[in-house]
Amino acid sequence: MEFQRVTRLQGQVMIPGDKSISHRSIMFGSIAKGITEIDNFLQGADCLSTMACFQKMGIDIENKGSRVVVHGKGLHGLEAPFGDGVLDCGNSGTTTRLIAGILAAQDFSVTLTGDSSIQKRPMKRIIAPLSQMGAHITSINGTGCAPLLIRGQKLSGISYESPVASAQVKSAILLAGLYADKETRVKEPALSRNHTELMLQAFGADVRTEDTTAVIQPARELFGCKLSVPGDISSAAFFLAAGLMVPGSEILLKNVGINPTRDGVLRVCEEMGGNVTLLNLKTEGGESTADILVRHSPLHGTVIEGAIIPALIDELPVIAAMACMAEGTTIIRDAAELKVKESNRIEVMVKNLSAMGADVTETEDGMIIRGGRPLHGAVIDSRLDHRIAMTFAVAALCSDGITEIKGAECVNISYPEFYRDLKRLSGNA
Ligand code: S3P
Repeated sequence: MEFQRVTRLQGQVMIPGDKSISHRSIMFGSIAKGITEIDNFLQGADCLSTMACFQKMGIDIENKGSRVVVHGKGLHGLEAPFGDGVLDCGNSGTTTRLIAGILAAQDFSVTLTGDSSIQKRPMKRIIAPLSQMGAHITSINGTGCAPLLIRGQKLSGISYESPVASAQVKSAILLAGLYADKETRVKEPALSRNHTELMLQAFGADVRTEDTTAVIQPARELFGCKLSVPGDISSAAFFLAAGLMVPGSEILLKNVGINPTRDGVLRVCEEMGGNVTLLNLKTEGGESTADILVRHSPLHGTVIEGAIIPALIDELPVIAAMACMAEGTTIIRDAAELKVKESNRIEVMVKNLSAMGADVTETEDGMIIRGGRPLHGAVIDSRLDHRIAMTFAVAALCSDGITEIKGAECVNISYPEFYRDLKRLSGNA
């Protein structure tokens, strides 16, 4: 797919549902008793992988477009996956790691697998704590990655200090904790996204946060509820960046989730001098939303490090692109987690931004970007990583010449209509 400079971006975008929250709504709805109605569910390939996994375990899920109805069967209502006993998580790390926490406590065995990217992503980070709780999990090829064989067991509560700030690790342990014999605690080095904690509360679980520790009590039952999924700030980030970078732009992003454990990109845009205004603030089910008005702004470099990193981890690729357009140097550090995402996002960003003429240096845990150099078109290999493809579609809008993105269709993972929405803003529908 090819992209090139546009004169400006103008209009509004209805941001599709949050990926993290959509996954959790299916999972928790499935192990709750009764009906869960989900509004604004993200119809991205990752969330559909989660849906298919629970359908294969006997849960009736009606997919009516943006509205989804889950007929939950309670904490002990799942059945061994129909037929071959295999659950396919596709490209989705969230599906793999969170489901593992639930499966660890079931009275059946499952093989958990996914695509070639999923089979390279580290799973020891969940195998270790879940094994401490009594789970039987083996990496079938001995790589520490999927496919995983999970044989459900009785679990006991633990107090775990996680070496990484990861909501997927925290959530896997908390979900196993629902089934444990006593309280489970997970302490993180910095607070990761807290959607699991907020949504489990809505389903009736006893879960609380003490500083950077999440604490959950074993549950007797969860109860189905009504949920409205906010727009995904990680998807909105591409338009935030595009609006700030492309001269003359003004974009209104509707219904974006601004949970403080996810809003790091807003804080960085402001820090870089971006003109970003929040309007129409609301809170529902503990999750806050706003409409975000973004206007083209001259940007300057910044340092992004420490506790803010988990609150913008998925936005770092597009922030790096934005830093190329800023005056001065931007330093990203403490972000080694980028190496174990859908691709090695440090390596892939540095390679592709350099191909477009940026002055960027790879470091152990991030990158250094010296901004202000004009970018030019290049052939970009997305490595089938959705956030890389979207980042370079945006970078191309303020670069000379033509940018060709290979594997551009992978945006289907989190934002199937991304290119349509982007074209519409440039008046080029
Ligand atoms: C997610 C957590 C983050 C994030 C991923 C979604 C989640 O991963 O990068 O896209 O839904 O819990 P980690 O928990 O590995 O940081």
